[in-house]
Amino acid sequence: MCGVIGYIGKEGVAPILLNGLKRLEYRGYDSAGVATLGSDLHMKKDVGKVADIHKNINFLDVPGTLGIAHTRWATHGGVTKENAHPHTDCEEKIAVVHNGIIENFQELKRNLVSLGHKFKSQTDTEILPHLIEEIMRKGKNFHDATASALKVLEGGYAVLVLNKNERKLIAARKGSPLVLGVSDTGYFAASDIPAFLEYTKNVIYMHDYDMALISDNGLKIFNLIENREVDRKIDTIDWNIKQAEKGEFQHFMLKEVSEQVDTIQRAAQQNKEVIDQVIKELKNARGIFFVAAGSSYHACLAASYIMSKVSKLHINVVLASEFPHYEHYINDKTLVVAVSQSGETADVLEAVKSAKAKRSKIISLVNVVGSSLTRSSDMFLNINAGPEICVLSTKTYTSQLALFTLLSYALNDRYEEGRKRLNYLWNEIYQLTSATTREKIKELAEKLQDKEHIFLIGRGLQYATALEASLKIKEVSYIHAEALAGGELKHGTIALIENGTPCIVFVSEEHEKEILSNAMEIKSRGGYIIGVSSKNNEIFDFWIKVPDANSENPIVQIIPIQILAYQLAILRGLDPDRPRNLAKSVTVK
Ligand code: G6P
Repeated sequence: MCGVIGYIGKEGVAPILLNGLKRLEYRGYDSAGVATLGSDLHMKKDVGKVADIHKNINFLDVPGTLGIAHTRWATHGGVTKENAHPHTDCEEKIAVVHNGIIENFQELKRNLVSLGHKFKSQTDTEILPHLIEEIMRKGKNFHDATASALKVLEGGYAVLVLNKNERKLIAARKGSPLVLGVSDTGYFAASDIPAFLEYTKNVIYMHDYDMALISDNGLKIFNLIENREVDRKIDTIDWNIKQAEKGEFQHFMLKEVSEQVDTIQRAAQQNKEVIDQVIKELKNARGIFFVAAGSSYHACLAASYIMSKVSKLHINVVLASEFPHYEHYINDKTLVVAVSQSGETADVLEAVKSAKAKRSKIISLVNVVGSSLTRSSDMFLNINAGPEICVLSTKTYTSQLALFTLLSYALNDRYEEGRKRLNYLWNEIYQLTSATTREKIKELAEKLQDKEHIFLIGRGLQYATALEASLKIKEVSYIHAEALAGGELKHGTIALIENGTPCIVFVSEEHEKEILSNAMEIKSRGGYIIGVSSKNNEIFDFWIKVPDANSENPIVQIIPIQILAYQLAILRGLDPDRPRNLAKSVTVK
């Protein structure tokens, strides 16, 4: 995944691009670059984080009121200056930034090389400027040549294209996200709204195969499949720039963890009519599949336990990337509930596409309205957590859980009860995210910071929490963390427990006995037991107090571990907002 931002208008483009790059950095941070149009094409790029590159080569030092920029997460070609975007054609007239993967690039490159084109990088992206150049040589204008070039690309793209000789910005997408922003001073195009949110809240969501041609005279959008100009409406979003800024917090991760006191409440405020429709579909379906990746998958797993417990409904939970192996169960009576914070995860979109081909109904839970997933769904629910900038999912995970809890109670004709239960969590979450709790968790982080392995166990709902908690610890502290269902421990992994091996135990009052006896098995082999529970116990070497919230345990129990993961990252000198090798949403398969 990478981030792109472009602007054409009356304002100086350099600060717009630099601000955009900073806000898009969560999408990739290997390298970054800009290209602007002044009297000539001006280009600057390098490897490293945006702030460091800017310090060295000054991104503000480029002229013009039209430009494009890119922050990279390497897929094709190593992390080198040559592979950083923008990429240009032989004559350096066409500049391109791209997010996605061009699958047929090798074949296209061979052909272009045989026609005499000289490549400077190992990227798939570089074929695009050369292809446009080649088609323009044959007499087509910039717009038509770009359209023709895009039509031969296989795979996915969100691209921005500049031509040294024309004051125009071309923006096109297929598969990868791209949103346009419209302000009084000009037009923006970016991978995500926060990139231009400080300038405008008026957005146009581009559809797949849309290509926008933007000039000082206005904007025209063509659809490359329909082969005609199309009308896309302007939406006004209610996000504000404060939500996309760190404010008094040192990192987005901590800010977003703290926001959960509000985001759970927001997730619980749904349109009752839409909830009723979703309930109807859940009740009528013959076979329900919850499909997702990463943390969203863990939310689905927790939801399947909640639905079994509260509403006696059986759910199949499937990793999006594994969904093809279940395809023969899918038909026009099946309901697929696709869950994705970003609404852009390639594996999830692919699963939805194949389910739709079998005429299954699709309902999605998303945080980004207008994303590809909302457009491919028959119906969607907005978890409404506001922009999540840190690569790790924190508030969006618990908002997904909150919405699933609401649905579980609604399925059982107890919608109001579900809403109230979530409302009551306000005070608990306030305590759990307070400075006092953070200090206490820091003590634990100090004890764990040099450990190589951490094990986590739980049963039922608490098993889903153990999985999500282990992911948080791994993603941000790089400590190996392994989650198990309590009962599974004795079937192998217990062999790894040694003197001092830390094990986090998630306890619910309902199933206290079983999980404490698993904890005892670890303790008697020298393990260091960290209990996450409402009551202290002599087995615990360290106790994290959480309320017993029954079906809402996954929400309250994960919060202290989100904080633990954050503290571990800080103590180990790591950047919690930008963990190595990861990307916020993975838009490639
Ligand atoms: C990436 C992120 C994870 C996230 C997963 C699914 O792997 O690093 O934090 O849970 O994608 O993202 P989604 O946007 O579909 O919820």
